[in-house]
Amino acid sequence: MKHIITTSGLRDELAGREIRLTGLVPTMGALHEGHLSLVKRSAGENSLTIVSIFINPTQFNDAGDLEKYPRKIESDIAMLSPLLKHDDIVFTPEADDIYRDEKVPDINLGHLDSVMEGEHRPGHFRGVIRIVNLLFSICKPDRAYFGRKDFQQVAVIKTLVKQAGLNTEIISCPIVREDNGLAMSSRNERLSPELRNKAGIIYKTLRKYSNLTEYQDIDKIKKTVAGEINESGNFRVEYFEIVDDDELKPLRSVTETDGRKKYTGCIAVYAGDVRLIDNTEFYFPFTKG
Ligand code: PAJ
Repeated sequence: MKHIITTSGLRDELAGREIRLTGLVPTMGALHEGHLSLVKRSAGENSLTIVSIFINPTQFNDAGDLEKYPRKIESDIAMLSPLLKHDDIVFTPEADDIYRDEKVPDINLGHLDSVMEGEHRPGHFRGVIRIVNLLFSICKPDRAYFGRKDFQQVAVIKTLVKQAGLNTEIISCPIVREDNGLAMSSRNERLSPELRNKAGIIYKTLRKYSNLTEYQDIDKIKKTVAGEINESGNFRVEYFEIVDDDELKPLRSVTETDGRKKYTGCIAVYAGDVRLIDNTEFYFPFTKG
């Protein structure tokens, strides 16, 4: 495994190689089993895997969140080394280096920019697109691996690939969870042990209501899910929406469901001052395809 810290260093390294298939795993570090599942998958499917670790300032709409984001580069590298092959690469650029001479892609996110994460984190996806576009242009990956934990991010990246005409296949990978069901996240480290334990309620509540009947009222389900989580102490639901997987349009009524489509319930919750997101598939077994 090679550790490269400059964009010119990475470009030179790649120019000198004959590569069959490149897999890219973009991360912001403070790695956990969720990230490692993407790395393992890429390492198993590609002749070269590049893992980037870069806390991308342009995607933080809250300066405090950026400041508090955990930084653990040494232990991250130690976790990656047994998973990567001799010629695989860990890339940890600096902001002024990677953003130098940037050409910002002109991408129209449509309503993806105004629902859920788009609505509540203004500018966030612009920043994600900017950094992922830069990483794609340097690494030229055949495949790039993203977690379904950031469900809307996967849709945003697919929009980037489509509109910019990029040649990268986007692979969406399952959510890895802690024993109590809490989706793994670098932010979980900021929770007190008590709150981290209690935060299992988020996924439990999503699952409890994920099989809907034709008589149910979407607004009522949304209120019930939010209410149960809010009442369990020190949690505040920011949004909960059930959206279709193709367009991520929020569902207003069960009568709109289509048996050919898949649906996902997506939630953002403040646990104390730590913002957590999660999602799971929602089923409408009564709709005909
Ligand atoms: P980060 O939050 O570090 O996540 C890196 C990748 O790991 C993302 O694709 C994310 O969805 C995935 N991931 C995180 N937790 C996961 C879990 N519990 N199970 C499965 N996958 C998980 O997402 C970002 O960084 C950034 O926005 C980035 C894409 C790197 C651009 O800066």
